[in-house]
Amino acid sequence: MSRKIVAANWKMHGSRAMVESWIRLIRPIEGVELVLFPPVGYIGLANEILSRHAPFLALGAQNVHEAAAGAFTGEASAEMVADLGGRYVIAGHLERRRYSGESDARIANKVRAAYRAGLQPILCVGETLAERSAGEAEAVVARQLTAVTAGLNGPERTTLIVAYEPVWAIGTGKSASALQVEEMHNCIRGILSAAGDIGKDKEMTVLYGGSVSETSADGLFQGPSVDGALVGGVALDGARFMKIGESLRRAKRL
Ligand code: 13P
Repeated sequence: MSRKIVAANWKMHGSRAMVESWIRLIRPIEGVELVLFPPVGYIGLANEILSRHAPFLALGAQNVHEAAAGAFTGEASAEMVADLGGRYVIAGHLERRRYSGESDARIANKVRAAYRAGLQPILCVGETLAERSAGEAEAVVARQLTAVTAGLNGPERTTLIVAYEPVWAIGTGKSASALQVEEMHNCIRGILSAAGDIGKDKEMTVLYGGSVSETSADGLFQGPSVDGALVGGVALDGARFMKIGESLRRAKRL
């Protein structure tokens, strides 16, 4: 069975006080996994607070270095994230590709590092508006995806979670249409199946990210190929994040 997930990517936002107040607002939602990606420095604190107030909430890192340890000033490894209580890692987010120059090859190494440390990677893929206008959206996403799946073994490919985040929808207030999302998610599922010993379609988990709000969520989650969302700006507000989780529960009849 695919997993149903709503995840909050705080990006470089937050404070100790916000970690505490946000977690205190979060309630379990039947059938939905709730995940918080705070800045890495807050994972330990978040883990302490959620053990008291929201033990069902999972934590993750927005990025990791591919090495387990070493002379890499300013970096943190997947092993360290696991040690802090994290269970997930985002790899290949647009902002890492754009501002830190991360290549497909580097992102593939980070996904492998996550598995090495026993963490669940969420791989972000997505095309720019220019690429979409040129009719290249599916080719771009296919390249980003196969660069990663090529280096994974069978079980890893089966459990890889993919988040389709079109560049033009991130932080713009304009999410992709339900039809655009459905088309690309089906394309992603096809590529994952073709990548080899992948389980059946139903077992894959594919999320959507890009200007998801409590208003756009209802329509997006109607798509049978959408298993949840990776939420940026709106997820800074715990109450609004909860509404998106509730929307997923309703849409999937969980
Ligand atoms: P927004 O929800 O702010 O568009 O951000 C999406 C995103 O980048 C999630 O990883």
